[in-house]
Amino acid sequence: MYLTPSEELILNGEQGYVLQKAMEILTALGDIYDADRLIPIKSTQIAGVSYKNIGEAGLEWISGLSGTVKVPSILNPAGLDRVRWRELSISEEFAAKQDAVIRAYESLGILPWCTCTPYEIRADLAMPGDHLAWSESSAVAYANSVIGARTNREGGPSALAAALIGKTPNYGYHLDRNRLPSIAIRVEGRLSGADYGALGYIAGAIAGSGVPIFSLESVPTNDERKALGAAMAASGAVALHYIGGVAPLPPTLPHPQPDQDTRDIVEQITIEHSEIEEVYRHQCDPDLITIGCPHCSAAELARLRDLLAGKTVTKEFWIFTSGIMRDRHPDLVTGIESSGAKVICDTCMVVSPSCERFNCIMVTSGKALAYVPQMCGSDAVLGSIEDCVRSAVTP
Ligand code: F3S
Repeated sequence: MYLTPSEELILNGEQGYVLQKAMEILTALGDIYDADRLIPIKSTQIAGVSYKNIGEAGLEWISGLSGTVKVPSILNPAGLDRVRWRELSISEEFAAKQDAVIRAYESLGILPWCTCTPYEIRADLAMPGDHLAWSESSAVAYANSVIGARTNREGGPSALAAALIGKTPNYGYHLDRNRLPSIAIRVEGRLSGADYGALGYIAGAIAGSGVPIFSLESVPTNDERKALGAAMAASGAVALHYIGGVAPLPPTLPHPQPDQDTRDIVEQITIEHSEIEEVYRHQCDPDLITIGCPHCSAAELARLRDLLAGKTVTKEFWIFTSGIMRDRHPDLVTGIESSGAKVICDTCMVVSPSCERFNCIMVTSGKALAYVPQMCGSDAVLGSIEDCVRSAVTP
């Protein structure tokens, strides 16, 4: 990979050890993936935040870094709600370690906002055509597919290295040639809400790391595409998808159509509605109901407020969003919590140890359905948002 003279100086250690290591990570990736050069990025979103996932070794590594990020950078969800962690039965020791992780990132100039939906907080972090270095797979899918920005699925260290240098290697989804659809998926029947998570759960396993283009009978909202992309990134490694006739126009590509643009499509499949229904079929008796994977938008919070109006929950009902979203919409939070449900911020059902004590967790998310059993050791059941409210208020 070509480096400019100033990039060579960084690699040679002229600007200190930390930047040298960051440049080594980027050049190693660039060489592996045959990038021609480094390109400037607009923002980074950095995974490797929950102390549950990174442990003591991760905390030590981050604490040993110094310097200042070159572009706006925010964090993935942490292992707790930074304000209400005691209500989640988080130990004092875990809370202290988690706080140390976030403070270490903050000392590098990274905004201590812990969310997988950074695009809900600041639209300027990712605009159409922008190059990014984001880690969280659902955020990567949304940035590429809904916004029309360009990012690979970065690991925590490579996103952090990109933040410190302000650049990323030019390969993968930064290049036009890798953004063409490779698999056409026709879906039978109309879908809504959690159906898109179920669809993603099936389609991701089929598409692998391909670029699906969907032919759908219904037009998904952006929140539904958020759920679709998140699930495909969990059951497969899909980082970019298109919806026939709906996807944002890639700036330098013709708008792909499922039946017309078949230049790179190697496979065409149909998913029947009965396959979507099958994902809901697994049942267990939930002792925790969760919504917010990925983190809830204001529209999703408003829907929950309306569905919970005048009701009282009888089970633990946790709704995950970012702390920024909570602060911006106190009326929605108050409305939801008047039912007894809790709006939990900066964390989620997968990365927080607080969910490990439950036997069966109900989710609306195909991603959570895939990850809860592995990460929490609990059974998981998929339901619609209405199913979740119904289950939460049933004595
Ligand atoms: Fe976000 Fe956690 Fe789901 S990070 S996408 S809420 S698994």
